[in-house]
Amino acid sequence: MNICVVGTGYVGLVTGAVFADLGNDVVCVDKDRAKIAALEAGRMPIYEPGLEEMVARNAGDSRLSFTSDLGVGIRHADVIFIAVGTPPKDSGETDLSQVEAVAAEIGRAMDRYKVVVNKSTVPVGTGELVREVITRHQPRAIEFDVVSNPEFLREGSAIEDTLRPDRIVIGAPTQQVAMTLVELYAPLERPMIITDLPSAEVIKYASNAFLAAKISFINAISNICEAAGADVSQVMKGMGLDPRIGGAFLQAGLGYGGSCFPKDVDSSSTPRGGSATTSSSCARWWRSTASAPPTSCRASPRPWVPSTTRRSPCSGSPSSPTPTTCARPRASR
Ligand SMILES: NC(=O)c1ccc[n+]([C@@H]2O[C@H](COP(=O)([O-])OP(=O)(O)OC[C@H]3O[C@@H](n4cnc5c(N)ncnc54)[C@H](O)[C@@H]3O)[C@@H](O)[C@H]2O)c1
Repeated sequence: MNICVVGTGYVGLVTGAVFADLGNDVVCVDKDRAKIAALEAGRMPIYEPGLEEMVARNAGDSRLSFTSDLGVGIRHADVIFIAVGTPPKDSGETDLSQVEAVAAEIGRAMDRYKVVVNKSTVPVGTGELVREVITRHQPRAIEFDVVSNPEFLREGSAIEDTLRPDRIVIGAPTQQVAMTLVELYAPLERPMIITDLPSAEVIKYASNAFLAAKISFINAISNICEAAGADVSQVMKGMGLDPRIGGAFLQAGLGYGGSCFPKDVDSSSTPRGGSATTSSSCARWWRSTASAPPTSCRASPRPWVPSTTRRSPCSGSPSSPTPTTCARPRASR
């Protein structure tokens, strides 16, 4: 399959390399010319185990190439992956300007039917926004479809996570469009969730919000343990061995950080200004869910607020929900 991946950050570069390794013909595009020049010379902008070798192998076999000309990538491809950054604005809202710029260029350069896949982490309704921006910039009407295929890789094990993901989420307008992505991912032989576009967008945010809440929850429990003279490590073990709860992301510590959890939690609870489909009631729901103290924490003098927990210094002050006994910070994905 002819593929274009726009953005050669953690997500785009690894996605492009893995799809090439699966036998596809991949063009990776980035507006950062220095990054493209380095990649063409075989130098990686990031370190990920196995990435350099995979890029070299596929570039050598002419299945993987790099360009800063987005038009070239678009015309080459049947399937275009958008994997550009979605940083937070000061308000906590997601800055979608990179996604919108790519969508506009896709519209301008589209020469035949394409499947446009959004891999960047975006608020619900962005698929619809991408469709609208592409349509508005097309010089003449050409059919296309927009799919959501959120990414769950972790930095540091990006190749492994992309080759063996827990699940592949495909949010498509029709079964037929979804099949294009199913065909692409089939060689990985991993579980696939085929759903509609908004559901796929929510799956990504809900997953990150849930993991962040788990970390914040055990930190709040750690405070209770401290007040009660209990050993939080024993409590964690006792809870985590319950398969309904699970031990992952249930270690009290500094809270959460990384490149995704803070911005995604903020974005989930911030209404998107002027957005077509993200309703403020949806944003209100996120906010109330993220800040409601669970029943088990009502005795705690400190509220259970994930977004505060992850920002708190490791002080253990009465106003801080971060425990005084601090472990290592958590990775995000
Ligand atoms: N890094 C992670 O661990 C991770 C995991 C899951 C999801 N995500 C999400 O995936 C998306 C990408 O993340 P990342 O870490 O790879 O981002 P990144 O910032 O490392 O890379 C984005 C790249 O896109 C390029 N770019 C921006 N606008 C462009 C344009 N108009 N044309 C061509 N290239 C353009 C930038 O130059 C940059 O190289 C984000 O939405 C992020 O939230 C990231």
